[in-house]
Amino acid sequence: MTMIRNDQARQTLLCGPASIAALPAELHQLDVTRVVLVSSPHASTSRGFQAVRQALEGFDIVYEFTAVRPHAPIVDTEALAAEVAGLDAGAFVAYGGGSVSDTAKAVSILLAEGAPLGGHCSTFTPPDQLFQPQLRRPKLPVVSVPTTLSGAEVTPGGGATDSAGIKRVFWDSKVASRVLIFDPLALQDVPPDIVLTSGMNGLAHCAEALYSRSASPVTDALALEGARRFAAALPTYAEGDRTDDLASELLLAAYFGGIVISNARVGLHHAVCHVLGALLGVPHGVANTVMLPYVLQFNADETEAKQQLLGLALAAGLGIEPGRPASLLVRDIQLACNLPTTLQEAGVRYEELDRVAEAVMQDRGLYFNPKVVTDASVVRALLENAYTGTLLAVAA
Ligand SMILES: [Fe+2]
Repeated sequence: MTMIRNDQARQTLLCGPASIAALPAELHQLDVTRVVLVSSPHASTSRGFQAVRQALEGFDIVYEFTAVRPHAPIVDTEALAAEVAGLDAGAFVAYGGGSVSDTAKAVSILLAEGAPLGGHCSTFTPPDQLFQPQLRRPKLPVVSVPTTLSGAEVTPGGGATDSAGIKRVFWDSKVASRVLIFDPLALQDVPPDIVLTSGMNGLAHCAEALYSRSASPVTDALALEGARRFAAALPTYAEGDRTDDLASELLLAAYFGGIVISNARVGLHHAVCHVLGALLGVPHGVANTVMLPYVLQFNADETEAKQQLLGLALAAGLGIEPGRPASLLVRDIQLACNLPTTLQEAGVRYEELDRVAEAVMQDRGLYFNPKVVTDASVVRALLENAYTGTLLAVAA
């Protein structure tokens, strides 16, 4: 079992087989005896969830919510906060994917700061004004057992969807999971396409953080290592490897993705994926899977040096000679994993592209993107490429 206790970030990672068994000791370390257990309808029927319930036998589960919906509707988070207020809970235990993690974070914020959640979310005014409210009150800690590879559990940020279908984003270092339990058992009952597409989301985190306006030499190194690990492990998983070793490798790669976006954030790619999810219901992993090569291509002229490094890392992970551009190597991974490569395959209707492009202009991802995006027509052209599958074979 790999154990990383990062005192600066006050976050402990436990990664490897049977790490769920460490849950009681970690809760004791946090002085917690009463927990709120959060999960989704699918995740809560899994063997990993049963292992978590077993590990919690000596604790009071003061509330169990297993109905988290995709994209974490704000209305759900506010209703759950009202239910658990006054129950004297000491922590959230979140078992599931990114929406479960985001729900636990959102409820932790709501309990401390009050409703509505929207009042605690970032606001972005195009093209470059970002306001992020300071959320100073102490928060109940979140302990996470992820079932996907988004790395969402690692980060201080989260997203929840309002009634108009807009993804609102919040940011508070106090709701980043205090304990991360990356147990390969948690991946075992997850449909393989979810594991793979969430892995493409993790890979996209590494790519976007690498050339983000907030990148640093430290995040660069971690992003490249995360990308190499994803490129090595995802095709192997797609070939049918279900060993604990490989699942632990995938989860560790997800950790790299989570760490780098915690520090360097995400850009245009995630702006598009947020809108595809919140407005059209495209799963976040699927949106990430499809969009990444096209956004790499879009940003290529302003990020040439970084994309060359990304290409080297991906080639090393894939075990092939370097030389192909990063966008085409990501396409190689898509194809090796038998994943969708166009928005059409992802179920997006062509008539929706204008609406998506307009909504992308309001997403704060634009703030961190290396290439300034000032006009929806530019985003619309990017979406056209992603819809028709137009990826240029540019030189490395
Ligand atoms: Fe993501």
